[in-house]
Amino acid sequence: MDKWKYARLAQFLFTLSLLFLETSFGLGGNKTLCLDKERDALLEFKRGLTDSFDHLSTWGDEEDKQECCKWKGIECDRRTGHVTVIDLHNKFTCSAGASACFAPRLTGKLSPSLLELEYLNYLDLSVNEFERSEIPRFIGSLKRLEYLNLSASFFSGVIPIQFQNLVSLRTLDLGENNLIVKDLRWLPHLSSLEFLSLSSSNFQVNNWFQEITKVPSLKELDLSGCGLSKLVPSQADLANSSLISISVLHLCCNEFSSSSEYSWVFNLTTSLTSIDLLYNQLSGQIDDRFGTLMYLEHLDLANNLKIECGVPSSFGNLTRLRHLDMSNTQTVQWLPELFLRLSGSRKSLEVLGLNENSLFGSIVNATRFHP
Ligand SMILES: *[C@@H]1O[C@H](CO)[C@@H](O)[C@H](O)[C@H]1NC(C)=O
Ligand SMILES: *[C@@H]1O[C@H](CO)[C@@H](O)[C@H](O)[C@H]1NC(C)=O
Ligand SMILES: *[C@@H]1O[C@H](CO)[C@@H](O)[C@H](O)[C@H]1NC(C)=O
Ligand SMILES: *[C@@H]1O[C@H](CO)[C@@H](O)[C@H](O)[C@H]1NC(C)=O
Ligand SMILES: *[C@@H]1O[C@H](CO)[C@@H](O)[C@H](O)[C@H]1NC(C)=O
Ligand SMILES: *[C@@H]1O[C@H](CO)[C@@H](O)[C@H](O)[C@H]1NC(C)=O
Repeated sequence: MDKWKYARLAQFLFTLSLLFLETSFGLGGNKTLCLDKERDALLEFKRGLTDSFDHLSTWGDEEDKQECCKWKGIECDRRTGHVTVIDLHNKFTCSAGASACFAPRLTGKLSPSLLELEYLNYLDLSVNEFERSEIPRFIGSLKRLEYLNLSASFFSGVIPIQFQNLVSLRTLDLGENNLIVKDLRWLPHLSSLEFLSLSSSNFQVNNWFQEITKVPSLKELDLSGCGLSKLVPSQADLANSSLISISVLHLCCNEFSSSSEYSWVFNLTTSLTSIDLLYNQLSGQIDDRFGTLMYLEHLDLANNLKIECGVPSSFGNLTRLRHLDMSNTQTVQWLPELFLRLSGSRKSLEVLGLNENSLFGSIVNATRFHP
């Protein structure tokens, strides 16, 4: 071998080792975990938004911002570099004394460039402002989504039928948007769905609740603020329904005036742990059948202005009750009787809301409630 060949070999080996250093340690090059295609998609997504509060200042195409896996709200798969999480939710801040709350929202439109993120499984865009537009259909093509939260984000109109493709979803929160519900036939396709919120929606069809009864694995359902005065599945629908194993129900802020309008709830004797019925128009006696819901831990009846009759004796069976709120219900009850009827919950009860009622009798007796 002549000198020239040695020189070539040495040069080759040197280049090879540089290449090795570069690829394995990212020296000098632009090697990022983040994939170029996905970075571009996120930048396109950012271009659709107005970011008045600088939430997305870490998102950019400058040299020092190439690693999109480190951008605010983004998480990637550590092995493949695919973006798996976008979490851009905001929080309300309520200044003391002020009646209004404020959230530093992103505004604008959702770009379909998100479709490039094939491995996205978590998308939280709650508490932003999407111009009262409809929820874009393309969201229904993000097939790997397990968590989707679009709550309180100024969406309007109907939910796209394409949502039937989101078969991996476990959590779907579309609450607080004033959506119109005309067709829920997409819903029973979501076979992994455990949490559903359609709070503050406007239901405009008759059989919508039947579609909810067909979701096979539902554990928690939020139908707060939907103007409901009646929620009555047929016995046949209920018999075959997963609702029978539902654990948490939010029915706050509706127009129920009597338990006969939601009496199927009393069939949930071995599953229901929590029910909110605050801010309805319930009046008269509290239904005895609450006492048959033996796993009940949380019962909120506050702000139903005419309950008057107090806790029934069946509550003695609620040995797991931790939270009972009956504030502002005009309940008239003799305190010793109230505490006697709650004696089954003596060990479990942590919160008992009784403000704004007409309770009488000695609190001395009440203190006996706690051993
Ligand atoms: C790094 O990226 C920049 C901008 O994307 C590009 O101009 C430059 O050529 C890249 N450098 C290397 C070593 O690839
Ligand atoms: C959805 O987002 C809202 C606002 O950020 C939050 O309060 C709520 O708990 C989220 N829903 C779920 C099911 O995580
Ligand atoms: C429950 O579902 C099964 C199978 O789908 C059906 O045969 C049966 O008639 C249903 N029962 C009721 C009460 O609807
Ligand atoms: C619900 O409860 C009622 C009254 O206890 C009973 O007649 C009915 O069969 C129950 N329905 C189901 C589906 O379990
Ligand atoms: C408590 O439950 C038992 C068994 O279900 C029942 O026999 C009893 O009547 C209930 N007590 C009250 C006060 O409802
Ligand atoms: C306290 O409770 C007992 C029964 O446990 C009752 O006889 C008594 O009248 C009560 N006292 C007051 C002041 O309410």
